[in-house]
Amino acid sequence: MTQANERTADHPIEPLFLERWSPRAFTGETIPEAELMTLFEAARWAPSSYNSQPWRFLYARRDTPHWEKFLGLLNPFNQSWAKAAGALVVLVSKTHMLPPGAANEIPSHSHSLDAGAAWAQFALQAARSGWQAHGMVGFDIPAATTQLNVPDGYRVEAAIAVGRKGDKSILPEGLQAREMPSSRNPLAQMALEGGF
Ligand SMILES: Cc1cc2nc3c(=O)[nH]c(=O)nc-3n(C[C@H](O)[C@H](O)[C@H](O)COP(=O)(O)O)c2cc1C
Repeated sequence: MTQANERTADHPIEPLFLERWSPRAFTGETIPEAELMTLFEAARWAPSSYNSQPWRFLYARRDTPHWEKFLGLLNPFNQSWAKAAGALVVLVSKTHMLPPGAANEIPSHSHSLDAGAAWAQFALQAARSGWQAHGMVGFDIPAATTQLNVPDGYRVEAAIAVGRKGDKSILPEGLQAREMPSSRNPLAQMALEGGF
């Protein structure tokens, strides 16, 4: 019904949801600081439990002194393509929150969920702004915790490569074949009226 990038939605949705995908071929262009801030700004407005806003985005833009440290956290496969990204981000969530009127912080049931909502908004804004964001769990989480000075009470959630989409010919052959927007399981498998 709604079409973009050869993806088709079965029900009408904003084309942006189909236009966001996770390429691995990036041009090597550094994302300007102001444009990266626009992506974080979109993430900032995500909903969260008690408006606790537990997300933290640690980042390094390409061609800055922080870049090599962030790139070095990724596993070799992710490094092989993310080295051409314009910025690398490590998403962290705060595990405890202060409910309104409470004196002490309590464990948050939804800190990871809330951080995921912020990541989604980041990625959608990236697609809208002419960039793409690619999430990664393939990185060294203990090393990220240490090297990025993540304090106790925070969970390292994911890494993100953001860049300008490039031509897939820059990728090794195996990855070229996979460099396309993927499809999805049927809606009936995930939207279950009345429960499982
Ligand atoms: C939290 C998270 C972790 C991911 N980890 C990796 C990864 O380590 N390496 C990789 O190449 N892709 C990774 N991906 C990309 C997914 O494979 C991709 O989002 C999924 O196949 C759907 O494709 P699309 O984003 O193009 O729609 C990750 C995505 C997310 C959201």
